[in-house]
Amino acid sequence: MSIKQDIQQAAERLQAAQQIAVLTGAGVSKESGIPTFRDAMDGIWAKYDPAELATPEAFQRNPKLVWDWYTWRRSLVSQAQPNPAHVALAQLQRIKSATIIITQNVDDLHEQAGSEDVIHLHGNIARNRCSGDCGEEAPAIPADDDGTPPRCPSCGAYLRPDVVWFGESLPSDALFRAAKLAEQCDVMLVVGTSGMVYPAAGLPASARKHGSHIIEVNPVASSISTIAEIHLQAAAGEVLPQVIAELRS
Ligand code: OAD
Repeated sequence: MSIKQDIQQAAERLQAAQQIAVLTGAGVSKESGIPTFRDAMDGIWAKYDPAELATPEAFQRNPKLVWDWYTWRRSLVSQAQPNPAHVALAQLQRIKSATIIITQNVDDLHEQAGSEDVIHLHGNIARNRCSGDCGEEAPAIPADDDGTPPRCPSCGAYLRPDVVWFGESLPSDALFRAAKLAEQCDVMLVVGTSGMVYPAAGLPASARKHGSHIIEVNPVASSISTIAEIHLQAAAGEVLPQVIAELRS
C-alpha cells in the first residue's frame, strides 16, 4: 500500500473510533530540536551513559554532575516550540474529544500546542522534587554557587528533577490511567517511540490484546511495528498533519 492509502486508512480508523489513546515518545519532539534517546547518530544514549546520569545511584554518587546535565537538558526543552506533530495531535483531540494522550516525554510541548488531557508517565523536567524521604514537590530554585543542587526547603535534602530515572517506579496514578485506557481504547496511535522501555512499551501490546487497532508513526521499524495494523513510515511532523487533513475532508 502507498503512504497515501495508509494515511486514508488511518483517518478512517480514527474517525470510527469511540476512544482513542495516543502514546508518544521522544520522536514526536525531535522536530522541535529535542534529541531522541536511541537514534544511532544523535540519540542522547549514544553520547551519554544513562547509568552515570539517570539513576538514583548516579545522583547519590555525583549530584553536581547529574544536576549539571539536567540543567543542559532543561535549557534545550525550555527553548523548544511545539512542532506540527504536537499541533496535529491537539487538533485530533478537538475533532475526536475522546482522545487522551499518554506521553513518555518530560517536556510540555503537547500542552503548549493546546492539548489538555495529557498523562505524563515519566514526569516533568521543568519541576523539582525532594530527593529525600519527604519527596515534596519544590519550586525551580537555582543551584548553589558551587553548582551543587539546591536543598529542599522542608527537610534539607538535595532537590532533584521530577523525572523517572532507571530503576524507579512510574507515578502510580498516571500508570493506572494509562493501563486502563490501553484496555478500553479502540485505536491506539503510537508516535515516535522505540518501544524499548517498560512499562510504557507494554501499552500497545495490551491495547492490541484487548482488540484495539494499532497505528504507528515512525520513520523506521520499531518493536511496535509487528503489532501495528498501519505503519506510517515518516516523520510525525510531516505525516500527522496529513492524517488530520484527511480526517477533516
Ligand atoms: P527513543 O529514543 O527510544 O525512540 C525514539 C523513536 O522515535 C525511534 O524509534 C525513532 O525512530 C523515532 N523517531 C525519530 N524521529 C522521528 C520523527 N520525526 N517522527 C516520529 N518518530 C521519530 O525514545 P522513547 O521511545 O521515547 O525514559 O524512549 C523511552 C524512554 O527511554 C524515554 O522516556 C526515556 C528514555 O530513557 C526516561 O526518561 C524515564
